[in-house]
Amino acid sequence: MTPEELVQHSIKAQQRAKAPYSNYSVGAALLTDDNSVILGCNVESKAYPTTLCAERVAIFSAISQGFTNFTALALITKDGAFPCGSCRQIIHEYANGIPIYIANESGNFITKYSSDLLPFPFG
Ligand code: THU
Repeated sequence: MTPEELVQHSIKAQQRAKAPYSNYSVGAALLTDDNSVILGCNVESKAYPTTLCAERVAIFSAISQGFTNFTALALITKDGAFPCGSCRQIIHEYANGIPIYIANESGNFITKYSSDLLPFPFG
């Protein structure tokens, strides 16, 4: 699957985001070694800290479904934002070494790796 195709999948996830408080929808698409695509979106709560980020939803969902080997991750936001610190930690632990396509609403993306995002990781 091309990076562009994985970014297209992340748009589907972004459309499913529940972000009524921040109005900031995030989509994630995680590609597995058998070419499955696991989606994640941010899901916000009235109890704000309970909110989950799109990246962690995708990774935790994939693991829950039995997928453990990942080959790429696409993220999309309106402004091409980078993952938060908590997500960087989880990406480091469970999706290390794979290209991360960080896209904006135009579909333009840059490619980063966990080592770029979290250069001095815990653990
Ligand atoms: N968010 C993510 O989904 N991923 C991140 O890496 C950073 C932030 C979500 C959480 C919240 O729903 C919204 O974006 C605004 O912070």
